[in-house]
Amino acid sequence: MPNSSSGKLPHVTTRGMLDMKQRGEKIAMLTAYDYTMARILDRSGVDAILVGDSASNVFSGHNTTLPITVDEMIYHAKAVVKGVQAETSRAMVIVDMPFMSYQLSAEDAVRNAGKIMKEHECDAVKMEGGKVIAEAVKRITDIGIPVMGHLGLMPQSIYKYGSYKVRAKEGDEAKQLMEDAQILEESGAFAIVLEKIPSKLAGEVSRSLTIPTIGIGAGPECDGQVLVINDMLGLNTEFHPRFVRRYADLASVIENAVQSYVADVRVNSFPSEDESY
Ligand code: KIV
Repeated sequence: MPNSSSGKLPHVTTRGMLDMKQRGEKIAMLTAYDYTMARILDRSGVDAILVGDSASNVFSGHNTTLPITVDEMIYHAKAVVKGVQAETSRAMVIVDMPFMSYQLSAEDAVRNAGKIMKEHECDAVKMEGGKVIAEAVKRITDIGIPVMGHLGLMPQSIYKYGSYKVRAKEGDEAKQLMEDAQILEESGAFAIVLEKIPSKLAGEVSRSLTIPTIGIGAGPECDGQVLVINDMLGLNTEFHPRFVRRYADLASVIENAVQSYVADVRVNSFPSEDESY
């Protein structure tokens, strides 16, 4: 969604992210799924907004990220892009490719990445996996669509893992992750999310790559950080993993506001004369 003739702030691009890594500036990314939240995030100075397939959990209430479809991701992405455009247009918008939209074949992956990019003006797509998706990443980047990778705990593989435990604690999986990160960089990925892996390994991966790493539960040595917006705002009261820092307790704020509204309606103190025509 590059802009720049409108007097708005310069849009964060793949090149911009690379420059941030080279300058040692940390990249701040958050998820968003709707217009209003995207406006708030963009004007608050976030560098990138991920339209995560976590929408499947936090927006639609599914147990996993698997059920969300390409069309549903496009619906969320359109709203987020409009939100960013309505504010400073600075944040880069990256959209998750959902489960089974890129695993079948490189051709299928190109078709779906193209559909996601074509139906709204987002900046990039994100895909989970290393060597297995390398051909698809190469084909997609070759036609001009930037790809962010995702390694470590990959929620689309949750049924394979059987739990949301920390990944790559053991030598073999750690070695595979280091190799997968190299393969993604060589295939053209512009950045890689590292989810729930030991900090030391995330540091090694980050130093071994030219492209930036964005961590979630991967410690402070990543080149940037990402959190699910509902978690960091305390909207989700049941989810307390160690890697989430709660910056607000919005669930309580909303509950208090709604209880006050219900009480006011019951005693007929809302609306007042000033609030009526
Ligand atoms: O879908 C998502 O929100 C993500 C983040 C957890 C990185 O992939």
